[in-house]
Amino acid sequence: MTSYQIVMDDELEILIDAETIENAVAGLAERISRDYAGKDLVLVGVLKGAVPFLADLARAVTIPVELEFVEASSYGNGTASSGEVRLTRDLDRDVTARHLIIVDCIVDTGRTLKTLLELLRKRLPASVEAAVLLDKHVCRTEDVGIRYQGLEVPDRFLVGYGLDWAQKYRNLPYVAAVLPEKMNI
Ligand code: PRP
Repeated sequence: MTSYQIVMDDELEILIDAETIENAVAGLAERISRDYAGKDLVLVGVLKGAVPFLADLARAVTIPVELEFVEASSYGNGTASSGEVRLTRDLDRDVTARHLIIVDCIVDTGRTLKTLLELLRKRLPASVEAAVLLDKHVCRTEDVGIRYQGLEVPDRFLVGYGLDWAQKYRNLPYVAAVLPEKMNI
């Protein structure tokens, strides 16, 4: 690849390569295409982390979909969430009677998804489900139903494919863990 790759090999351990991601996305897209055939589907991406996953998923589904966005952030000290999820960008369209799938890159505690599911249910959609590529299952504190789940990941500081370290590395085509000795946090 590029010099970017060389710099990052120094501090990252690749956990999920691009091909594995592609296969997982294809599997989820196939299920969604089947489940929502003939239905009016809106994919709701959760900024910013969902961008690569949403873009790939939307292109892999074989049914028409619309794309909308919300942005949520958890207050915390940077590495641990405080538990309070704030909606920093709301939908700018009415989603009444539409079928919605919230699309996010990763579920950790589950607080973000739980908050968004509760919020969108109040908008009276025809249905609302969630699609998440990465599942940090050991960190879950909320009981949240996720219909479309991709790959389980360990409880490590992850970057790539939408996940950032101080806003960097979201553009990596793979998922990597930051080596603990390089973190300094
Ligand atoms: C990340 C991720 C999820 C959320 C998952 O977003 O994209 O939205 O955290 O954590 P949870 O299950 O514990 O709620 P983040 O708040 O880091 O914002 P970002 O997508 O802009 O990086």
